Amino acid sequence: MAILVTGGAGYIGSHTCVELLNDGYQVIVVDDFSNSNPESLKRVEQITGKQLKTYPIDLLNQIDLEKVFKENKIEAVIHFAGLKSVGESVAVPLKYYRNNVISTLILCEVMRKHRVKNLVFSSSATVYGATDKMPVSEDAFLKPVNPYGRTKHLIEELLRDLYQSDKEWSITLLRYFNPIGAHESGNIGEDPNGIPNNLLPYISQVAVGKLQRLNIFGDDYPTKDGTGIRDYIHVVDLAKGHLKALEKITSITGVETYNLGTGRGYSVLEMIDAFENASGKKIPYTVVDRREGDSAICYANPNKAREHLKWQASRDIHLMSKDAWRWQQKNPKGYQEIVDPRQTGVY
Ligand code: UFG
Repeated sequence: MAILVTGGAGYIGSHTCVELLNDGYQVIVVDDFSNSNPESLKRVEQITGKQLKTYPIDLLNQIDLEKVFKENKIEAVIHFAGLKSVGESVAVPLKYYRNNVISTLILCEVMRKHRVKNLVFSSSATVYGATDKMPVSEDAFLKPVNPYGRTKHLIEELLRDLYQSDKEWSITLLRYFNPIGAHESGNIGEDPNGIPNNLLPYISQVAVGKLQRLNIFGDDYPTKDGTGIRDYIHVVDLAKGHLKALEKITSITGVETYNLGTGRGYSVLEMIDAFENASGKKIPYTVVDRREGDSAICYANPNKAREHLKWQASRDIHLMSKDAWRWQQKNPKGYQEIVDPRQTGVY
């Protein structure tokens, strides 16, 4: 029996593949590499000393996907594949609806045809939108404020309808907060295309000298130091949450939603401080206007995942920063260039 991981070469996908292989699962990856690099999967194999099977296909291609299900005995699917840039989703919403929603629809149809009805879906805290009741729980009102968030919300609804129509399905919707950090080896990590949109990859590119200074988007929020507060979670903790969800869906049917966060919020200035300590580098910054669509504070109530899945994040922001920095130093150009570790002083 194997686990199919869509988008397995991506940031969270690759870390989840490591945990799956370490736990003895057989792993099959489907990835079109439009926003990821096959090198990440090679590194996953190096880290674990185990092999996975890869299909370089687009989920929108139903014929190719059918082949994956015919050739393998798949027990469950972890579905990461999708586009994730908020700004891009505003500029090209149709691309996002097609890539995220239609591909999930096709995946579900193929799964149903092959009688594979166990699914873990990669959702996002972005589905909560501009809620101001913190910490946010799974039963909060959902009002995503951008097309990316609306695709995640739509998929959640689609999956709930699917379960209502056929109670043999077992579906887990995981709402991620702000994943950062990297595997402790420093060999896999986040490799954004172009200039990063998110805080941590931006900070680490400033630290490594690729970018000159950070822009802080507003210091006049009603928070302790005026900068935005988020629930940063180590990507390895997040990956481990998927294994807990997998155990659950392969034992009972239903559709359940879980927040995967730490339950603690940190400000932009606190994250800069943590990263400066971890890296020994100064992060120069300028305070600029607020970024449109940003909320002041967002952090999770993670109790449901703790109670139902027996999962809890254990890595703090210092370890998150240290691991992110190790990855950045060892791979200043991400997966584009393989650096000899003897030249970086990082082993
Ligand atoms: N920030 C800056 N400067 C930057 C980037 C970010 O000051 O260059 C600030 C933001 O204003 C915010 C905080 O850092 O206060 C975190 O911003 P991120 O862009 O890292 O993360 P967001 O919380 O805005 O969004 C992220 C993902 C979404 C996802 C959401 C889930 O980008 O896709 O987390 O909560 F949906």
